[in-house]
Amino acid sequence: MTDLTAYPRTRLRRSRATAWSRAMVRENILSPADLIWPLFIVEGDNVEEPIDSLPGVSRWSIDRIVARAKEARDLGIPCVALFPNTPNDKRNDDGSEALNVDNLMCRATKAIKDAVGDDIGILTDVALDPYTTHGQDGLVDAQGYVENDRTLDILIKQALNQANAGADIIAPSDMMDGRVGAIRDNLELAHHHNVQIMAYAAKYASAFYGPFRDAVGSSGTLKGNKKTYQMDIANGDEAMREIALDIAEGADSVMVKPGLAYLDIVYRAKTEFNIPVFAYQVSGEYALVEAGAAAGVGDRDALMMEKLIAFKRAGCSGILTYFAADAARLLHG
Ligand code: PBG
Repeated sequence: MTDLTAYPRTRLRRSRATAWSRAMVRENILSPADLIWPLFIVEGDNVEEPIDSLPGVSRWSIDRIVARAKEARDLGIPCVALFPNTPNDKRNDDGSEALNVDNLMCRATKAIKDAVGDDIGILTDVALDPYTTHGQDGLVDAQGYVENDRTLDILIKQALNQANAGADIIAPSDMMDGRVGAIRDNLELAHHHNVQIMAYAAKYASAFYGPFRDAVGSSGTLKGNKKTYQMDIANGDEAMREIALDIAEGADSVMVKPGLAYLDIVYRAKTEFNIPVFAYQVSGEYALVEAGAAAGVGDRDALMMEKLIAFKRAGCSGILTYFAADAARLLHG
């Protein structure tokens, strides 16, 4: 008996033979609208500070950040994510600079909104690590344990401070229990009905955050690790519980972080929940591509694009990536 589906009647190479045909059957397309660009802010005027462990990425003063936001808008990137490098003399044990209405984040947010308005979204990170002398995301007790409930109170205030400055998306990255609901309720009370929450729902205690900690200046200060609140790298089911809780608490979208090593989590999240799923291709992932390309592993742009399309294939609505501007430029040809 002949199998009617078998070779040579079926040749999967037929549709791959030409570029037009490959384009015609392509299942996933990456567009600049899929990209969110993380930007690091520093005090000063006309400052660009390259970050050694993150080649090609700099900290910018607020005037230069505004230029980056305009660049993003012109490239069709819908959203930028802001992270401050707080001056050391403004860091303390309880991260109170996070609540200063005039802190770097708030001033940068206002400056971008003044210049670009609603032509771009601004995502702001809620967590205390860029503001604390110990580098932890929350308040620590005498033993150095990060205290959940006391931290919630300050995170709520931090989120309101960011929303008042004009943030469009609040992104809690702290992994405290109950923070999404607490922040949502307080945003509603303050009439910030349309300020979204993108929850860092499944955020792992990962080794891939090193260059980011250099960028915000917390690598030197961080005492210990973050394993009592960030997820164990071996767990998948627990990520689904985290995501379900954040959705129930009012998250508009959820994030998986890091990205490429956790595509199974992205895929499961997309399959199990009807909600936009984002992935954060974190600093260490970015730096590894740059290091690999510099070491001759492959073409840098090709490596970059292959990794970015993988997120789309897995089901992402979008990707936070330090490659955003370069990738968007490439997509525009
Ligand atoms: C802070 C935060 C981190 C990142 C985003 N927000 C670092 C951490 O949790 O230590 C990492 C991003 C990256 O590595 O690019 N809560």
